[in-house]
Amino acid sequence: MGVVQTEDRKAARMKRKDEHLKYFLMSRPSRSNGFTDVVLQNNSLPDADFDEISTEYVFLNKYIDCPLMINAMTGGTEYSGDINRELARLAVKFNIPIAVGSQTVAFDNPEAADTFKRVRDINRDGIVIANLSANSDIDDAYKAIDMIDADAVQLHLNAVQEMCMAEGDRSFRGVLDNIKEIAALAGVPVIVKETGFGMSFETAGKLYAAGVRYIDIGGKGGTNFVSIESLRNSERNCSFLEDWGIPTALSLLECRKASSDMFIICSGGISKAEEVIKALCMDADMAAIGGAILRILLEQGCDAAEKYLEELIYEIKVLMLLLGARDVSDLKNVQYLLKGEIRELALSL
Ligand SMILES: Cc1cc2nc3c(=O)[nH]c(=O)nc-3n(C[C@H](O)[C@H](O)[C@H](O)COP(=O)(O)O)c2cc1C
Repeated sequence: MGVVQTEDRKAARMKRKDEHLKYFLMSRPSRSNGFTDVVLQNNSLPDADFDEISTEYVFLNKYIDCPLMINAMTGGTEYSGDINRELARLAVKFNIPIAVGSQTVAFDNPEAADTFKRVRDINRDGIVIANLSANSDIDDAYKAIDMIDADAVQLHLNAVQEMCMAEGDRSFRGVLDNIKEIAALAGVPVIVKETGFGMSFETAGKLYAAGVRYIDIGGKGGTNFVSIESLRNSERNCSFLEDWGIPTALSLLECRKASSDMFIICSGGISKAEEVIKALCMDADMAAIGGAILRILLEQGCDAAEKYLEELIYEIKVLMLLLGARDVSDLKNVQYLLKGEIRELALSL
């Protein structure tokens, strides 16, 4: 009986991987990430040449060409493995970090493991990041890291998504203690990440106290797992959570206020150069892109995804010039203004 249940669970997990991709494409990111309330000002005296603008950056002791990463999305089935292959090629082409999707599905399934390993096979020298639930144990963390010779491991927080899944977890006790243990023992940097609902000041403070030094704020404004899971789950309507979450720009302000020395990856609805730049001016250390690149890859193909990233990085450089920033560290000194809802909410932080 136990074996049957385990096999059923495994099959369900595999099915879910492909369903997420299917329903992701049917869902539409409708909510604002808050960056329209962040205003940058033109610098008429940039004192720089365009050719000298550098987006080069050091992350996890490796040089990368831009502080932008491809976030955790997929792997586990043949279809999702093909997507991982293309995402890995993009990461190599632009020399940017890449995280794989949750690896739990691959722990006792060598074929599924291959769909994650191919990311490292293609991206031999670059930064490849493992991913699993923050509810996992340390042995699973070791397995995920070893599977792809990972430079770091992401632990995802997804209580909102689980609550919208008919088969989702209902127990969230002890997760912080779990994170604390993994952060102490993993042997590689641990990045705790949200998945589209944003981290608050309090959450970031608790993670810092637990020894976490890297977070990905995963704010509201892009991929919406309430919408994705609502399409999968016909048993219960979760539309009351449709607008739940902390907009990315606000979450960034909150998390930076919680700690001045955490490495903050800003993600959640990032799709434009201006948003990457705003995040870096607001003291994020890096930006991450998920749904935006996946959608282009799936709907328009590999060449379009490559063109998109090429243009995005070019536009980042143009904006750096127009802000008078010769390198990424200069962006930290660029002033920005807040307006509207984000300004109002930031005042009460
Ligand atoms: C199809 C799909 C699958 C995802 N699977 C994972 C996952 O396995 N692990 C994880 O940490 N995040 C996962 N995410 C969440 C992203 O990493 C990211 O946190 C979220 O989509 C918000 O960023 P975005 O608005 O740029 O997409 C997934 C996202 C998408 C679109």
